[in-house]
Amino acid sequence: MFALGGLLLPMPFMLAPMAGVSDLPFRLIAREFGCPLAFTEMINARALGLKNDKTLRFLRSSPLDRPLGVQLLGREPEFLLHALDVLAGYPFDVIDLNAACPVHKVTRKGEGAALMREPETLFRLVSALVKHARVPVTVKIRSGWDLDSVNAPEAAKRIEAAGASAVCVHGRTRSQGYRGRADASVIKAVKEAVAIPVIASGDVFSQAAAARIAEETGCDALMVARGALGNPWIFDDLARAQGNGGADAAGCGPHDALAREIAEVKPVMEKHLALSVDHHGPVTGVINFRKCFVWYTRGVRDARTLRVRAVHASSLDEMRALIDEL
Ligand SMILES: Cc1cc2nc3c(=O)[nH]c(=O)nc-3n(C[C@H](O)[C@H](O)[C@H](O)COP(=O)(O)O)c2cc1C
Repeated sequence: MFALGGLLLPMPFMLAPMAGVSDLPFRLIAREFGCPLAFTEMINARALGLKNDKTLRFLRSSPLDRPLGVQLLGREPEFLLHALDVLAGYPFDVIDLNAACPVHKVTRKGEGAALMREPETLFRLVSALVKHARVPVTVKIRSGWDLDSVNAPEAAKRIEAAGASAVCVHGRTRSQGYRGRADASVIKAVKEAVAIPVIASGDVFSQAAAARIAEETGCDALMVARGALGNPWIFDDLARAQGNGGADAAGCGPHDALAREIAEVKPVMEKHLALSVDHHGPVTGVINFRKCFVWYTRGVRDARTLRVRAVHASSLDEMRALIDEL
């Protein structure tokens, strides 16, 4: 069991917010393999307040897509609170504040990972969200802005003081982006600094990696991001390991996905494609699925030419035929 405020999860892992990736189809596939909590991609609070169609689409969900976390991006309390008003009409279970996005067009506005440089602003934003939200509030942070200013423990203390239900730490600085290995020692230092649950993010690519990260950090839960690309089976692997005290590393290594029988992968691809077309429509649904085709077939022998054709496929029939050819 893992408790996020009043929300009880049967297992201590979740699907990360991923811009351009963790849409409803992606989440529904993850849920089929036992993912107990998933997050929307980051949603700009100001755009949400304006209720523009493209932004509202991020909030589309279904009863199978619960519990659901909505991640907000912003730095002005009034925009964040207005976003909460708009969210009142939607079903969701957790609000997460993004203090982790390293992209320049976000950080130059003082949002995302730039908030790591302002623990007091973080305190004010989280306090406002906690006061007004009807669900638990979490915050996703980085280890710091850069290697000279690693301050995740200090930021986490302010986040805890503001009343957040948990803090998620991506163990890389903003300047590291997604490169190198996530630093387990920073996550461990956060765990030692606060009493609220700590969720570790970074490099959860297999059950074996998950076991190592849990051991090294002492974290309360794990967040799966790139490890879920083309590999929803990772949630099943993590769940099975829970069933036997986390000891089941055998057969769940990083090469498991590569070794998976294509006969097992194809129906999942077909379902993901169908969900994508349902959600995004026939044109964008197929275009969005192109990258998923590449992820699902990573390591599949002789699939190179099919992958090249998939990234140009533009109709549902064309994409279905490519899956069939695998
Ligand atoms: C394509 C992509 C999009 C991402 N978008 C978001 C996002 O919207 N919000 C966020 O907090 N983190 C985002 N992240 C970061 C992940 O949630 C995660 O913290 C990071 O990838 C580290 O985990 P990993 O090493 O297991 O991939 C994104 C990562 C990727 C690869």
